[in-house]
Amino acid sequence: MSLMSEKDLYKFPDDFKFACATAAYQVEGAFNEDGRAASIWDTFTHEGGSANHDTGDIACNSYHLWKRDIEMIKSLGVQQYRFSISWPRILPDGTTKNVNQKGVDYYKNLVKALINEGIEPMITLFHWDLPQSLQDRGGFINPEIIQNFADFARFCFKTFGDSVKFWITFNEPIIFTEMGHCGHPWEHAPGAFGKHNQWIHYWVAHNIMLAHAHAVKVYREEFKEKQGGQIGIVQVLSDYYPMTHKKEDEEAAESMRYFFQERFLQPIYGDGNYPEHVKNRIWENCKKQGRITSRLPEITEEEKKLIKGSADFIGVNYYLSHRVRALEDGEANIASGNVLDIDIGGKFSDWLNDHPDGFRASLNLFKKRYGDIPIYITENGVRDSPGEGLHDPSRIKYLRGHLVAVAQAIQDGVNVKGYTVWSLMDNFEWGFGYDRKYGIFQVDFNDPNRKRTPKESAEFFKNVVKTRSVQAKSVSKEDVLRGPPFLVPDEVEEP
Ligand code: BGC
Repeated sequence: MSLMSEKDLYKFPDDFKFACATAAYQVEGAFNEDGRAASIWDTFTHEGGSANHDTGDIACNSYHLWKRDIEMIKSLGVQQYRFSISWPRILPDGTTKNVNQKGVDYYKNLVKALINEGIEPMITLFHWDLPQSLQDRGGFINPEIIQNFADFARFCFKTFGDSVKFWITFNEPIIFTEMGHCGHPWEHAPGAFGKHNQWIHYWVAHNIMLAHAHAVKVYREEFKEKQGGQIGIVQVLSDYYPMTHKKEDEEAAESMRYFFQERFLQPIYGDGNYPEHVKNRIWENCKKQGRITSRLPEITEEEKKLIKGSADFIGVNYYLSHRVRALEDGEANIASGNVLDIDIGGKFSDWLNDHPDGFRASLNLFKKRYGDIPIYITENGVRDSPGEGLHDPSRIKYLRGHLVAVAQAIQDGVNVKGYTVWSLMDNFEWGFGYDRKYGIFQVDFNDPNRKRTPKESAEFFKNVVKTRSVQAKSVSKEDVLRGPPFLVPDEVEEP
């Protein structure tokens, strides 16, 4: 029995942009070719940091197969392609003292070919692959990184900015910070670096924020007028639901939202500062431990001016929402590497993998808190469900539901300007190596030619782009009776 009808056809505005995305380390390969130096992900994977000792040494081999990638992007009919620049491919030691021209040419060719096909490049400057040489000098702990990043950004604006009109400084600072610097069980590079240290991740996040703001200043003061582009940052949005209506669970859910989300949003889109809740909670905990300073760095008045308003748009990556409960006495929040829990005081109880309502709610909340900032969905997608491959109904269901949520948010009055599917193709999925596949094109990693084949979801997405509309799925009585959606089972248990 169908509970919905044709009226559930959602149209996207005429100027709405559809896109697909990848990131350099996840697809390029050619890790030591043509003058590219190592990034922290080369070091991390060569030391066996990812599942099955997988590495991005070859990955999808997009460094050599980028023309095929463009064919695929073109076949989808999208208006934009989001990809990232590998910092150590163009500036091997991380500084502008040494430029690797072959690496620069790679991106120049890619940008040119996209533009020839009428596809706008959207470039992420930092999708986690920091040059190892900069990590050796302390990485994001060393404030010198702010200068390094601003120089790298200036170099990119100067070199590619006549053709590139969409710039993203950082991809998901929260994930880089927490998974790379807290000893998270699903660890990311640079890895054990910050394990059991309760300070480092706050400083990493702080320096990322300053590096972002300085790069934006460079763009606005030196390039924006002439090049006419836009610059922003990509943040993770989720919704945080209390497990019960008990006051402590409701507080834990709000606290999680502040620590994981508003801590990164409020300085840029709000008042230039960290939320009071975050500042107070950390300071209270520090005092209890007899400390004389807060682990959370202070944003100075001068820095506030620099950070506040330092984005023309927000890039939103949405994958899932969380149910949260308060910690029980003595319980540690292992999902945050035993570090953040000291300050947060909550625990994710499960992962809601397929929860479009949380998407719509979090977009609405963003508007309520920060106003009409243009929003580009820069990532949304899901990994293959067990047993699915080219035939991937679970992904189609996920994408359909989330596209409907975006269309509904637009109807609600939220200023969403674009939607990017993650990912164009299966690729190196960080700590999970090649075990998890997010592509709408399948990649055969056993084939030296890394053959790419469209999955059914590619056909689905192509049709959405072509018709600029999405039909909400009919909900069967069985679906309704089954209760809330836990539709893509997570085979990796929460530790
Ligand atoms: C990252 C992607 C990643 C995706 C799926 C996002 O956090 O930006 O690089 O592949 O999640 O896990």
